[in-house]
Amino acid sequence: MAVLVTGASGYIGSHTCVALHESQRSVVMFDNLSRSSPRAVDAIRRLVSEDMAFVEGDVASADDLDAVFSRFDIDEVVHFAGLKAVGESVADPLAYYRVNVGGTTILAEAMVRHGVSNLVFSSSAAVYGEPETLPVAETASLSPTSPYGRSKLLCEQVLADAADAHPLDVLLLRYFNPVGAHPSGTIGEDPVGVPQNLLPFIMQVAVGRRERLSIFGSDYGTPDGTAIRDYLHVDDLAAGHVAALDALGAQVTGCRAVNLGTGNGYSVREVLDAAQRAVGSAIPHELVERRPGDVAQLYADSTLARELLGWQATRSLDDMVRDHWAWQQRNPDGFGS
Ligand code: UD1
Repeated sequence: MAVLVTGASGYIGSHTCVALHESQRSVVMFDNLSRSSPRAVDAIRRLVSEDMAFVEGDVASADDLDAVFSRFDIDEVVHFAGLKAVGESVADPLAYYRVNVGGTTILAEAMVRHGVSNLVFSSSAAVYGEPETLPVAETASLSPTSPYGRSKLLCEQVLADAADAHPLDVLLLRYFNPVGAHPSGTIGEDPVGVPQNLLPFIMQVAVGRRERLSIFGSDYGTPDGTAIRDYLHVDDLAAGHVAALDALGAQVTGCRAVNLGTGNGYSVREVLDAAQRAVGSAIPHELVERRPGDVAQLYADSTLARELLGWQATRSLDDMVRDHWAWQQRNPDGFGS
């Protein structure tokens, strides 16, 4: 039996393929390579010392999915494939609904057709929007502030309805802020164009690809005035997917949403300080206006993940920045180098 991983050559997908392999699973990677590199597939294969199966295909194509479900003996699916840039989703919302909601719906239909019942879905803390209370629990109100966040919420609703009507068990994993890289430095985040997220931007400044970091807002009501997020190591996140698959059909039936975060908040300044320690030199930066749409603080209540999945993050902020830096230093131009 095998696990199908859609979006396998992306940032979180690649780390999860390695973790699934280490959990003794047979993995089938599936990706249309629209936002990721075939070199990521090669790097995964080198890391696991195995010719892990890779199929180039699109989750929005029922034919591509039928082909992969027919060719391999798949009994579980982890679905990462989708678009994830908030700014892009505002400029081109229909692409987000087509790819994210359309792709998820077509994948769920294919699973039902092929009698595959275990699904782990890549959701986001973006479904919460501006939090009313902190830390944010799964029971918090859901009012995403971007088309990206709304597309993820719609996917969650599609899957909850599908799990009511069909023999499907689904875990919706709401990620907080994944950062870091595999400690080998051979796979990591390789953003397309100018990085929108904090740590990729910091690291591109450190490696000389960008001049300086802009800190978006220093007048928030936080101890140092910069915004606070729940950063978690991508390998902890990958381990969360293994725990989620292990729980499906056992502790978890039907459809459940679970936060994956550390439960700790760090400010932009704290992340920058940690990065400067890891890099060993000052990283040029300036204070600028707040970024529209940003919230002051967002961090997870991670109790449910511990209780339901037996999962909790183990890696520190220093581990995250050290591993992210090792990847960036070794691959200054990402997979393109
Ligand atoms: C963003 C998305 C979120 C998505 C997540 C992961 C928004 C509003 N939210 O989260 O939906 O799930 O990425 O892809 O965009 N910062 C700077 N300078 C920079 C970049 C970021 O100061 O150059 C600050 C931001 O203002 C924020 C923090 O760093 O306070 C983290 O930003 P980012 O990495 O973009 O993550 P989120 O905004 O939390």
